[in-house]
Amino acid sequence: MTLNISVIGTGYLGATHAACMAELGFDVIGVDVDPEKIDSLSRGDLPFHEPGLPELIRKHVDSGRLRFTTDMGEVGAWADVHFIAVGTPQLPGGTGADMTYVDAATTSLAQAITKDRALIVGKSTVPVGTAARLYDLVKAEKNDDVDLSLAWNPEFLREGFAVKDTVEPDRLVVGTRHEADEQLLREVYAEALDRSTPWVSTDFETAELVKVAANAFLATKISFINAFSEVTETVGGDIATLADAIGFDERIGRKFLNAGVGFGGGCLPKDIRALQTRVGELGLDHTMRFLNEMDHINLRRRDRVISLAEEILGGDYAGTDENHSAVEGKRIAVLGITFKPLSDDVRDSPGLDIAGRLYNAGADVSVYDPQGNANAAKRFPRLGYVDSMTEAARGADLVVLTTEWNEFKQLAPADLNEVVAKRQFIDARNVLPAPEWEQAGWTIAQLGRKF
Ligand code: UGA
Repeated sequence: MTLNISVIGTGYLGATHAACMAELGFDVIGVDVDPEKIDSLSRGDLPFHEPGLPELIRKHVDSGRLRFTTDMGEVGAWADVHFIAVGTPQLPGGTGADMTYVDAATTSLAQAITKDRALIVGKSTVPVGTAARLYDLVKAEKNDDVDLSLAWNPEFLREGFAVKDTVEPDRLVVGTRHEADEQLLREVYAEALDRSTPWVSTDFETAELVKVAANAFLATKISFINAFSEVTETVGGDIATLADAIGFDERIGRKFLNAGVGFGGGCLPKDIRALQTRVGELGLDHTMRFLNEMDHINLRRRDRVISLAEEILGGDYAGTDENHSAVEGKRIAVLGITFKPLSDDVRDSPGLDIAGRLYNAGADVSVYDPQGNANAAKRFPRLGYVDSMTEAARGADLVVLTTEWNEFKQLAPADLNEVVAKRQFIDARNVLPAPEWEQAGWTIAQLGRKF
């Protein structure tokens, strides 16, 4: 029997999962409550940037294997496996995850299912305990003649590599309460299993926690190296060499040890804050404080960029007003506004936060990002968004590099020497050869290096 698959929620995760399931050979329907989203997805138009995904969606819409609908009743009568991929955004003030969409999607799906047997599979990132609660909810919805069950199967894709990470995951984690549910998921992922992809079969709580633990661990690596940046900024030393040297130890590994302006995006910051709230609710105060400190180390990197800007630009400030910021009236170019390269995502972006704070302190900020200008302008319209590095840097008193796009990594002093008003630079991602810039007459500050 070939399985019919539905994916509820067609945001980043859901649209990717639906297209990749079609690529694996299944007939797939993506469901969303937003009719406009359904229309544009059916044309292969995505409201976000993800390399390869629009092409994959168009390919399978054309092949007839992938459709989109707003009709939950249609998929309830049709699909054997339903993936829940709706968002769990941060609640105001970072006080946990908003479960409204997951709860609503699961309830309306369970009500709509009319097949004799169906499996609901949670993919969204949720506080531990959610799967058990939803399992009871789903079971209560159906009488015994419908075999409806629930499993948890977290997603580990990275923005920028979403298709590859979904089609060729480095592991698959499934939390189930019944052997038959696990077997059904083995059928769904048969192709990955043929390639010997590690398969972790476990309970609901472990499956939910693996996802947040993985993100918390990645965030810890970044905050660890950034905590050492504070040390090398104080006593001297080279943070990148330090990261290389400890990274040669296979137990440590070099990945996610790039010191800089820290982590942002729609996942790491939100997930560690939701985890803080959840462990706090469970009375685990020490774990909560550990996560809290990690978050603070991360946010302090943004403060460091602001204080470096003030220090660099304060050189010619002769006033005495304590409330005056040295960046006031200065022209500052911000290169990179997305939370990382290969993405147009500006959620919790360090670059956007810094640009906004410089603007609020009175600077004239001009921004260039290869993909992120439009999204950033929706959130912070008052910055000056321009279409090239040189345009951003024209007449600047200070250039700040906040996202390590390739075109910024290749920047040479000669590209900007005659463009800027003052040769002053903050490389907040440590990607430029500082000595070369110094030789060309630039003052250049990098995070993790004494200034
Ligand atoms: C992250 C995880 O890496 C994925 O495994 C996970 O599935 C995803 O969240 C999710 O929960 O959906 P993503 O948000 O796409 O993926 O971004 P990352 O590549 O992890 O980067 C996160 C942030 O850390 C970026 O702002 C990046 O610039 C920063 N970073 C990364 C550093 O500052 N230093 C590093 O060494 C690495």
